[in-house]
Amino acid sequence: MRLRAVTSSTFLLIILSSLFVDVSVSASFLPALIKGIPLWLKNSRTSKFSSVWNKLKSLFTFKKGLKLGDVYKGLSEVKEYLDIFGYLNSTLNSNFNDTFTLELQSAIKQYQKNFNLQVTGQLDQDTYSMISQPRCGVPDVVNTTSFTRWWKPGRRELTYAIHPRNNVSNGVKVLLRDVFARWSNATSLGLAETASFDGADVRVAFVVLDGEGGTVGGAETNYSARFGSVYLDSEEKWVVKGESDEGEVDLESVLMHVVGHVLGLGHSFVEEAVMYPIVLPDKKKTKLAYDDLLRIHRIYGET
Ligand SMILES: *[C@@H]1O[C@H](CO)[C@@H](O)[C@H](O)[C@H]1NC(C)=O
Ligand SMILES: *[C@@H]1O[C@H](CO)[C@@H](O)[C@H](O)[C@H]1NC(C)=O
Ligand SMILES: *[C@@H]1O[C@H](CO)[C@@H](O)[C@H](O)[C@H]1NC(C)=O
Ligand SMILES: *[C@@H]1O[C@H](CO)[C@@H](O)[C@H](O)[C@H]1NC(C)=O
Ligand SMILES: *[C@@H]1O[C@H](CO)[C@@H](O)[C@H](O)[C@H]1NC(C)=O
Ligand SMILES: *[C@@H]1O[C@H](CO)[C@@H](O)[C@H](O)[C@H]1NC(C)=O
Ligand SMILES: [Zn+2]
Repeated sequence: MRLRAVTSSTFLLIILSSLFVDVSVSASFLPALIKGIPLWLKNSRTSKFSSVWNKLKSLFTFKKGLKLGDVYKGLSEVKEYLDIFGYLNSTLNSNFNDTFTLELQSAIKQYQKNFNLQVTGQLDQDTYSMISQPRCGVPDVVNTTSFTRWWKPGRRELTYAIHPRNNVSNGVKVLLRDVFARWSNATSLGLAETASFDGADVRVAFVVLDGEGGTVGGAETNYSARFGSVYLDSEEKWVVKGESDEGEVDLESVLMHVVGHVLGLGHSFVEEAVMYPIVLPDKKKTKLAYDDLLRIHRIYGET
């Protein structure tokens, strides 16, 4: 994992801050969304992002890894986190306690395998550091064989729209257009912007999720109402142009990733892939990697 040292001079910060502020959302133009996750996105997972991340981010200072049998205040939040991202059997959900159980051990092993960490089955510093990274809100462990297209069978032209209350700049609209064009090229689907948010097949919105860090965005699909949603955390320090520094998140890379989800892709653990779930601070991912192409072609065929 590469964490960039903070080396920016004040001068550089001034230049950067003028580049990345244009999607920040203030209460004055986001009144209906500002209080939390809007209804069409709210579910048992997205509702938990905020409380879990806000407790997790300041929990631990490790001298030694935590292991099977240990009791440690805050382990319940680690279980909650692993549950949200698909590593625990959700039927055991509700009322997690602070005991390091066998289920937690196997969840941590799976997590360590996925992220190419040493598989110790312990909650050690490396594992906690990975958990502390900003990431996508979609679970890692899902039944990927069950992908079903949420749009009407036979449709080849889909539309997308950005939430009007987000009032995003042209720079953001151009990024979105480029991102959809790349996925369109890889899937042979038409993906065009439309003005009507409620009528769009893919809804894009900046919403208040869990503050800086934690979950940066994600995607949901609604099979019965036949629409897909792509959401982004309005409180991240989004970078629209140029390189992101520590603590900042590259908007184009995250857009590429979340749009991949609504078109049917799950997470990949190939670090170079757009569909890798963790946001790596020094990696801009705007083009589909070999792994992404391989997987999207498995759904749509070679284009
Ligand atoms: C999840 O828990 C339920 C109830 O205890 C059990 O029946 C099921 O087999 C478990 N599934 C997995 C994948 O562990
Ligand atoms: C904690 O929860 C587990 C089930 O996840 C249970 O087996 C264990 O007895 C609980 N420990 C305490 C101290 O309540
Ligand atoms: C995945 O989903 C399919 C279809 O719903 C089901 O047949 C299969 O058993 C599931 N696999 C796992 C590992 O849960
Ligand atoms: C939208 O943003 C523009 C500047 O980009 C600003 O002039 C306008 O007042 C904003 N509209 C609303 C409704 O906030
Ligand atoms: C479109 O896809 C083809 C084949 O995968 C690729 O060679 C080309 O660079 C892509 N064009 C764009 C604009 O992404
Ligand atoms: C799908 O959307 C419809 C219409 O907005 C809503 O009533 C329903 O609750 C949504 N379903 C899910 C699973 O979110
Ligand atoms: Zn994702």
